[in-house]
Amino acid sequence: MNPQNPDNPEGVEQPTRRSLLTWVILFFTSLSALIIGVPLLRFLFPPERVIEKRGRKTFVARIKDIQKGRAKTVLYENSPVLLINYGGSIRAVSAICTHMGCFLRWDDRAGQIKCPCHYAAFDIDGEVLSGPPPRPLKTFKVEVTHGKIFIVKD
Ligand code: FES
Repeated sequence: MNPQNPDNPEGVEQPTRRSLLTWVILFFTSLSALIIGVPLLRFLFPPERVIEKRGRKTFVARIKDIQKGRAKTVLYENSPVLLINYGGSIRAVSAICTHMGCFLRWDDRAGQIKCPCHYAAFDIDGEVLSGPPPRPLKTFKVEVTHGKIFIVKD
């Protein structure tokens, strides 16, 4: 004859204080592993941008992301830069107008960089073509390696 527990006549396993404690310990151990593990993994396997910023060149875009004749604006050292795929090469020109600091756009039909504020126009090398800007745009040295575009610091 099987002795029966008067509090649990059907023999269903009840959660005990020990099993609850085990789950709490497991939960906090897993949480600790996540809190420590994620930054550790990011340190050991850093994202592409962090890896390639070491040294003098900074990864800014992939060549496949900029169609011929088009441009893409990227951030380089906290400043917008136009990457322009034009004439078989990539140019990098500041996207900030030298007149009053307006945001510039690439006009692919005209093949010029234009400022919508006071209708200035710059050529592909950032030289002033028309309008009030007092000086050319800042340009950056570009390197393309394995389909990746880098801005190289002088
Ligand atoms: S801010 Fe660009 S022309 Fe004035």
